[in-house]
Amino acid sequence: MTVFFETATDMIRMARRNMTQDAWDYVCGAAETETSLRRNRMALDSLAFRPRVCRDVSDIDTSTSLFGHKLRIPVILAPMGSIQNFADRAALEVDDAARDFGSINFISTVTEPSLEELAANSSHPKCFQIYVRGDDQWIRDLCKRIVDNNYPMVTLTVDSAFYGNRERLNPSQLALRRVASREWQKKITWDTVKLVKDAIGDRPLILKGIQTAEDAALCVENGVDGVYISNHGGRQLDHVQGNIETLPEIAKAVDGKLPIIIDGGFTRGTDVIKAIALGATCVGIGRLQAWALGAGNAAGLLRCLELLEREIETTMGLVGVTALDQLGPEYVTGTAPVHWPHEHSAFPHLGGRIE
Ligand SMILES: Cc1cc2nc3c(=O)[nH]c(=O)nc-3n(C[C@H](O)[C@H](O)[C@H](O)COP(=O)(O)O)c2cc1C
Repeated sequence: MTVFFETATDMIRMARRNMTQDAWDYVCGAAETETSLRRNRMALDSLAFRPRVCRDVSDIDTSTSLFGHKLRIPVILAPMGSIQNFADRAALEVDDAARDFGSINFISTVTEPSLEELAANSSHPKCFQIYVRGDDQWIRDLCKRIVDNNYPMVTLTVDSAFYGNRERLNPSQLALRRVASREWQKKITWDTVKLVKDAIGDRPLILKGIQTAEDAALCVENGVDGVYISNHGGRQLDHVQGNIETLPEIAKAVDGKLPIIIDGGFTRGTDVIKAIALGATCVGIGRLQAWALGAGNAAGLLRCLELLEREIETTMGLVGVTALDQLGPEYVTGTAPVHWPHEHSAFPHLGGRIE
């Protein structure tokens, strides 16, 4: 399938045309007042670059690595359960795009087809994301399947003890999602983290949903291998900080001991470079991934990643660096945002939030 869109703005227009109202609301929506969702964008827009000049930027390397696995750009595909509801083969399409581009696909527990079928789709490195849906034995059994199928990394999501009230969902969808078995998620403690760690052997364990320096320090203390800063795209607790606001305190607490992944509102190359400057190893994309899939399945996602790569390379050149490890906090400063934030505010030519 050939997909051609020259800008992410066109991609979003195409996605809106292709996606049903229910799928669109499910992807775009967030919890209650959607303050957390908007703060993710507001926080990114409240940072400006401090570019340096007269440096040779003719040869730029946009790549990095996560636990020894190369990333062509510092971007991973955040877990998105239920994407199978948008299109046949959607989860496999994401995996194809990750392999073809050179990213890492984070696969949710609630994604279909099974983790075995997704493992068989490609040998490209993937990360399995656990939602706890059963007792200790259930966790051990799931971890055994993850290990048997050679997933090189594991993420445990810890921000979902309750299901956020997402009012853009139609009432029947919301009711269905609320009743999905949550009792085990509510019981997660640092003992659960240890249980998962023991069950996956020497594979790195990442904790997703970290939002404070205190919990980041506990990650280090409890032998976690990676910190994933996330407020679930504003879909869980309403009225939290924008994720990039928490990055400096978390980077300080982690003190270079663990890689940091961050997501929440990242839709532009400039957003990605701001996070790397403040200490992130890489950035996750959620909704952007869904819009790209909606616009054109695997080919759409591949094209979206290529556009992001172009934006990242341009941003690096214009701030005056040729490799990501040359970035530091001195490349950004606080400023006043110029757009009222929402999920599409990084695309002003759309003319506003698309319903
Ligand atoms: C449609 C959708 C489904 C999601 N499903 C999951 C999931 O199954 N597990 C999980 O840990 N996070 C899930 N998330 C949260 C994403 O992994 C990620 O944290 C968030 O989307 C990042 O914000 P962004 O959408 O603004 O990029 C989901 C997000 C969306 C939009």
